[in-house]
Amino acid sequence: MSVRQILRLGDPRLRQRAKAVGDPFDSSLAELIADLEDTMAAHQGAGLAAPQIGVALRVVLFGGGGVNPRYPDAAPVPHTLLINPVLTPLADEQQEGWEGCLSVPGLRGRVRRWQQLRYQGLDAAGNKIERCVEGFHARVVQHECDHLDGVLFPDKLSDPAAFGFIPELEAAGLIPSVPG
Ligand code: NI
Repeated sequence: MSVRQILRLGDPRLRQRAKAVGDPFDSSLAELIADLEDTMAAHQGAGLAAPQIGVALRVVLFGGGGVNPRYPDAAPVPHTLLINPVLTPLADEQQEGWEGCLSVPGLRGRVRRWQQLRYQGLDAAGNKIERCVEGFHARVVQHECDHLDGVLFPDKLSDPAAFGFIPELEAAGLIPSVPG
């Protein structure tokens, strides 16, 4: 178990399509999951996908830790590890919201996402997970699963002007200031 280096925008490994996990009980997968847990915790991230630590497998981790200090207005998202996730939008409605990414440090951008969706996959013990979620929870899952297809949030900006460095966006009143 270790805190791994997080790849940053520009690294071609972030642009690969990740492969499905064949055997959820493989011991190397347990190591990967432990590393994702340690790395996300070290960075207080809202989520982390395996490609962000250079592993091209369809595994994402998100949520936990109560209210995320980076997203103080969002309802807590349960700590979830998802293997081979499949997302299905449940309504036509989309919603814009600000996102950041540990692979795009210091920046935020506004992205349109499905408001309601179902996600399915396997947890770390190989059990099936199926949840219908909405709002910030749905947004986090979409953001993390995009990483599995080599997509990062700046690819999906709803407006090129709604993108920038956190202090500048805060000064302009576009995003709320986060203390500390
Ligand atoms: Ni990200």
